[in-house]
Amino acid sequence: MELVTTARRLASRTAPLALLADSVTEVPLVDGSSTRFVNLDYAASAPPLAEVHDVVTTSLAHYASIHRGQSYLSRVSTATYERAREIVAESSGARADDVVIFTRNTTDSLNLLASAVPGRVVHFDIEHHANLLPWRAGDYGVVPVQSTVDGTLLALEHELERRPAALVSVTGASNVTGECPPLGRIAEIAHRRGARLAVDGAQLAPHRAIDLRATGIDYFACSGHKLYAPYGGGALIGRRDWLDDAIPHQRGGGAVVNVTIDDVEWKPSPARHEGGTPNLAGAVSLGAAFRALGRLGFDAIREHEMSLYGRLLAGLRALGINVARLWPEHDDLVAVASFNVPGYRADMVAAYLSAEHGIGVRGGRFCAHPLLDRLGFAQAGAVRASIGVGTSGEDVDAIIAALDQLLHRGPSWRYASVDGYTSPAPDPRPCTDRILS
Ligand SMILES: Cc1ncc(COP(=O)(O)O)c(C=O)c1O
Repeated sequence: MELVTTARRLASRTAPLALLADSVTEVPLVDGSSTRFVNLDYAASAPPLAEVHDVVTTSLAHYASIHRGQSYLSRVSTATYERAREIVAESSGARADDVVIFTRNTTDSLNLLASAVPGRVVHFDIEHHANLLPWRAGDYGVVPVQSTVDGTLLALEHELERRPAALVSVTGASNVTGECPPLGRIAEIAHRRGARLAVDGAQLAPHRAIDLRATGIDYFACSGHKLYAPYGGGALIGRRDWLDDAIPHQRGGGAVVNVTIDDVEWKPSPARHEGGTPNLAGAVSLGAAFRALGRLGFDAIREHEMSLYGRLLAGLRALGINVARLWPEHDDLVAVASFNVPGYRADMVAAYLSAEHGIGVRGGRFCAHPLLDRLGFAQAGAVRASIGVGTSGEDVDAIIAALDQLLHRGPSWRYASVDGYTSPAPDPRPCTDRILS
């Protein structure tokens, strides 16, 4: 308890930076009481910003078919969908001849790019599965990350020298350690060796301004649900030529100029890859999120999140818990902290934090199995706490107090493995039929 008091004294209260859409703030606990929901799982999925939610609600009030109708509302919906595309292009510093393709998410974007890349792909060994598995359909090489950024870039350069590649694809920010590889330097190396650079921007886009033109990034993939826009949209932004030569990603209506019984003329991108009725809410929310975060200002976002991250690290350190890092000297990172609690499996810790304290974190291997193995989390998994614009100082203090209690008093409830996943046993919290009853 002494440690917790110290952690609490470390900093004054910090309020959330932005307004989130009305959401459930009170959650049940296993002992029958309820408490304020503490969301420290922004890296998994973020709730909508109020501004994003408002724009989506307004767009749905005008909803009609996109690219397909002559009605006034069809024209409004089509114009809104295409305006969202322009905002995403402007907000990411896309070049004039780049294309923005609306997808379902980062995984979808990278699978689309994998079908378009005309040669070998090289990536690091720390990637999320979304930036590992799509490349396995073709020729690919893996560069092991070294203990420094410079060493890692040297290893990348050697790999490209040894065997040329068409594309280097790297994460913009690790979903495990939060560390951000230096994208400008990687673009420079890739281009010097005749390759293009793709960035898995799932974790970077909510925290940093993106500028394709200035950094030399050729392709950027992101997901709405990580960007405070969880309406099923994502995007692939980047160079047109490969995308126009690629097999259409979704074959069907909207992607074609003309179809005969045995032939088809496909449209150029983006329509070429957006067959089927477009997801208006997905696209509009993405545009609204880029705009809202830009207005909030990425300097303010970074300052807010990193001050809370410092508070989290200090609290964990006081409990004897260290967070995983690849490059301990590197100071460019987003507020994602992965760690082990001595004596407990990670899914047990996540279940405990939710069941007894109403705190949401991720426990497991975060779809980055090779990196978790490499960091020594193969057996017990890791706990990941992640911070966003809605996080407050009280949220950080809450997890530190709950972990302190776990370490010094143990859990107050029983837990059991159900289908290989630790859960409270029994779990009396009602959660079915709450919404679609
Ligand atoms: C770094 C990274 N890349 C890719 C993804 C995949 O994102 P999505 O599930 O939205 O496709 C994630 C999701 O957690 C991620 O953290």
